[in-house]
Amino acid sequence: MQIETERLLIRPWRDEDLPAFAAINADPDVRRYYYPSVLTRAQSDDVVAECMHHLHEHGFAFLATERKDDGALIGGTGMSWTDDIPGAPAVEIGWTLGRAFWRQGYARETGMAWFAKARSLGLTEIVGYTSKVNAPSRAQMEALGMCCNPADDFADPTVPKDNPLSPHVLYRLENPNTENKP
Ligand SMILES: CC(C)(COP(=O)(O)OP(=O)(O)OC[C@H]1O[C@@H](n2cnc3c(N)ncnc32)[C@H](O)[C@@H]1OP(=O)(O)O)[C@@H](O)C(=O)NCCC(=O)NCCS
Repeated sequence: MQIETERLLIRPWRDEDLPAFAAINADPDVRRYYYPSVLTRAQSDDVVAECMHHLHEHGFAFLATERKDDGALIGGTGMSWTDDIPGAPAVEIGWTLGRAFWRQGYARETGMAWFAKARSLGLTEIVGYTSKVNAPSRAQMEALGMCCNPADDFADPTVPKDNPLSPHVLYRLENPNTENKP
């Protein structure tokens, strides 16, 4: 599968993306709100391999996202099934963009495109989750019309309980069949 937006191409990962995505995942600013923080090249490559496996199994995944005008890999965006949250399984939307590409509306543009994909798949709900302190990610999901209920807050089981990144918030977009987004 691939999705084309005004400025971007969302497509399956290729071998030539691996060094660029590893560089994004090795940036402490990009990984500031992730546990563990920066990834090694091997860990980053494993993420890509898991995404391609998910794509082949489910027909959608967290995919390479390329800027059309210069072919730059801006990062990864997409949807995947998750078991890591209360009420799972659910389809999660996520973004990991290189720092040079922040605040240019790319997450918003890809989010809208993925919502359209969700509609075409007949999905009734999409979730997004992040550490409570990840203000940029929270603001970005809110800008996309996703809603967060404090009753859904949870401690991410993959993060040690005493780590400040442990408390997580869950955002939902119910019924992406409606055109209720910006
Ligand atoms: C969070 C992230 C995906 C945002 O991507 P982005 O392309 O910069 O977001 P956009 O430019 O589409 O911004 C959309 C809206 O989100 C909000 N937003 C985005 N980044 C923000 C920030 N640093 N601070 C406050 N609000 C922010 C704003 O409301 C913004 O609209 P505006 O620019 O018109 O004010 C990006 O910063 C990123 O990849 N961070 C590192 C990885 C990460 O934390 N991913 C999320 C984990 S779940």
